[in-house]
Amino acid sequence: MNLRLYIRLRTERNRARVAHKFLCFPALAALLTCLTLTSLCEAQAAKKIQPNVSKQPFGKMDDGTQVDLYTLTNAHGVEARITNYGGIVVSLKVPDRTGKLDDVVLGYDNLDGYLKNNGPYMGALIGRYANRIAKGRFKLNGVEYRLAQNNGENHLHGGLKGFDKVFWSAQSGTRPNGASLTLTYVSKDGEEGYPGNVRVTVVYTLTNANELRIDYSATTDKTTVINLTHHSYFNLAGQGQGDILQHQMFINANRFTPTDQSSIPTGKLKNIRGTPFDFLKPAAIGARIDQDDEQLGFGHGYDHNWVLNKQGQALTLAARVREPKSGRIMEVFTTEPGIQFYTGNFLDGTITGKAGKVYNRRYGFCLEAQHFPDSPNQPGFPTVVLQPRGKYRQTTIYRFFAK
Ligand code: BGC
Repeated sequence: MNLRLYIRLRTERNRARVAHKFLCFPALAALLTCLTLTSLCEAQAAKKIQPNVSKQPFGKMDDGTQVDLYTLTNAHGVEARITNYGGIVVSLKVPDRTGKLDDVVLGYDNLDGYLKNNGPYMGALIGRYANRIAKGRFKLNGVEYRLAQNNGENHLHGGLKGFDKVFWSAQSGTRPNGASLTLTYVSKDGEEGYPGNVRVTVVYTLTNANELRIDYSATTDKTTVINLTHHSYFNLAGQGQGDILQHQMFINANRFTPTDQSSIPTGKLKNIRGTPFDFLKPAAIGARIDQDDEQLGFGHGYDHNWVLNKQGQALTLAARVREPKSGRIMEVFTTEPGIQFYTGNFLDGTITGKAGKVYNRRYGFCLEAQHFPDSPNQPGFPTVVLQPRGKYRQTTIYRFFAK
């Protein structure tokens, strides 16, 4: 082989090597990446938690009825504990901005706490009528119905033994989008003074989107009134971790229903502009709560119904609350026309709740999606009448995330 030929051959071989390097390396890298990703995905899939429900005894009611506690978990490990006594949400663990789970609702460690001391209706389902009916009276088709006057001279949250104090039949299950608990209750004609046999179904779903979704439905065999809600006290810093005055609140409402001194709506819808009831621009709950304002005086703080900005029964954003330290955010969506924002003004430190935490004034707030208080006596408010052939429906979603 002469020198020129030798040099040409070497050059060709080097070129081929370089080409090989540049052509094969990316292919190899791509192959390796692909393999790594596949095994990572497989590992992730193996690790992925499936939505789950488990059940354990929670205690016995005074008549001996066995009550259970259902633990619902979603694919992210978010957990809701719900009992079939009163449909009460006993605990709700959601992540902060670092992923740390904390229980963000007030309550008791055991059934006994709820049986003996649930004056504040902590975590419960409320019915047949959420909030107040003036003087415990209303008329339907010319007949007057009389209800318990269990809040001064008014009727509150369904009476002496409302839906918060009854045993609900329970059926739990999992779906691809989360874990659910279906609760049913039949309220007999005349129960707590209300007409009609009313069959109620409430489905709690803890979805994989970190939502606690509540779907309510009800039917009746006689014309009646109905207004259901859910009464969790939230503290997004964690239950028992101080007051809620630093939470930033947004409420999607231009108006609220002002009340008289006994918290019965006057029937007017008042514009929130220029008042401490304006939460269209997010504000700390505590920023104006103690201002010298007649309505705040009547409620001892916020305890009012906001008229949500919406069209008809669409599921729309009602409120968004952010707790600055944990970064937790809760959004509330509802099909209802109103929301009661109550700042735990009557909590007074006499209750020792979960994990020995004492609940002082304003240690929790409620956002109760609802029809307006005293609607049965207020012809100008959206109707709460349910007819025998009709169906009551409500969906409310509490959605959690952190930033
Ligand atoms: C009412 C308050 C009441 C609280 C607990 C709220 O829905 O608006 O006035 O004190 O429930 O009973």
